[in-house]
Amino acid sequence: MEKKETLDSSLKDIVSVCKRRGFVYPGSEIYGGLSNTFDYGPYGAELLHNLKRLWWKHFVHLREDVVGLDSSILLNPKVWEASGHVSNFNDPLIDCKNCKTRIRADKFLEDQKGEGAATGLTLEKMNEVIKAGNFACPNCGNRGTFTEARDFNLMFKTSHGASAEDSQDIYLRPETAQGIFINFKNVISTTRNKIPFGIAQIGKSFRNEIMARQFVFRTREFEQMEMEFFCEPGTQKEWFTHWVNYCLTFLTDHVGLKKENLKIREHEKEELSFYSEATSDIEYKYGFGWGELWGIASRTDYDLSQHEKFSGEDLKYQDQAANKKYVPYVVEPALGLNRLFLAVVSDAYAEEKLPDGETRTVLRFAPQVAPVKIGIFPLMKKDGLPELAKSIYTNLSSLGNLEYDEGGAIGKRYRRQDEIGTPYCITVDYDSLKDNSVTVRERDSMSQERISIDSLKSYFADKIL
Ligand code: GAP
Repeated sequence: MEKKETLDSSLKDIVSVCKRRGFVYPGSEIYGGLSNTFDYGPYGAELLHNLKRLWWKHFVHLREDVVGLDSSILLNPKVWEASGHVSNFNDPLIDCKNCKTRIRADKFLEDQKGEGAATGLTLEKMNEVIKAGNFACPNCGNRGTFTEARDFNLMFKTSHGASAEDSQDIYLRPETAQGIFINFKNVISTTRNKIPFGIAQIGKSFRNEIMARQFVFRTREFEQMEMEFFCEPGTQKEWFTHWVNYCLTFLTDHVGLKKENLKIREHEKEELSFYSEATSDIEYKYGFGWGELWGIASRTDYDLSQHEKFSGEDLKYQDQAANKKYVPYVVEPALGLNRLFLAVVSDAYAEEKLPDGETRTVLRFAPQVAPVKIGIFPLMKKDGLPELAKSIYTNLSSLGNLEYDEGGAIGKRYRRQDEIGTPYCITVDYDSLKDNSVTVRERDSMSQERISIDSLKSYFADKIL
């Protein structure tokens, strides 16, 4: 039997609007579900797509010094030996001997004793603290019935090849980064990039998380948007600062997240990943508290050096101008798309009391990320209004995803668009047939203005694109 994983109640409103309005559905729902899996519905898929497109624009297209890549999810298993994931990509695991619930020991200690309580603790030390605390199991409530904490590797194993003799154990990638490192030489030899430069990619990653929870914040299948920026040793500090600032500006100025809901947290020495000499997280204030959204790490020459060692290939960079050869250092901004999705929906969500006493739920997405850019309505389903509204729809459709809706009272149609975060609505009424203009309603202020049909495209292009 599948054990249900807890959905944090602080995310109740967000989970509810996501389900109700077709952003996120529970995975495999008609078969009773599969815990911690989610499917993105029509509006969710649009939002994800817009976020990816925006990231690609700012991290690849607008940067002369970054190129894109799309590497395989399945890699030669030696990659993960070289990267250190086989031996080091572990979380501490304890089981409740009574109800068999599996618990991530460090998170459990933090829940019991406060943030940072497990930072830098060895397995032995964790065991001591857990024993001394005589804590209750979060599932069955029994006290002191935990196994000793042990390392649990987070990589998903699968087998590659059809026949028993040929098949080989391989892993689903736990990060997209290694696909970039193993293609460093290919990119250098097939493009004109010179250091400093970056390689970016977007793709799915998989981690067999011990405690997957908090809606789409921590799942076993998720999508990453990562960039490895290769630079000369000694310049990594400058680049690290540059990328932390660049990422933060991307979130506030382009994705539209509120500044007060973002903060930078530098990692203590004891909590650095095995490959990192410095890491700063950009955290977002989710419904359940501050949580990591974006990790920016200074990975030194660790990965390329390890791949040189394990593959036997020379992965050094020949700097022709300076007549030097070296293994580049790497600064890596690594962003989780699904965490960005959750931050964007949380930031946009509002319930408002209106002057007429009604309450409206509204998602105040920035127009660039909104799943639907414009809702287009004929006031009535007759007298040529639908035809005119449909011709406006066709004319504006190159601006992005639009929605045509002719059903129900106009106020209800506005509310529905508010709830999926559509920034603008157009209403075609009887005057439109005479004066060739329409009413444009703005979501946040709810203000309305008359705009001539001929100028709609340029009016919206400024606001949406
Ligand atoms: N290549 C470095 C790397 O993968 P990470 O901090 O482990 O670093 C980067 O992951 C980002 O991926 C995180 O900041 C987070 O946004 C996202 N992420 C990591 N694990 C996740 C999970 N289980 N579910 C959803 N997103 C996750």
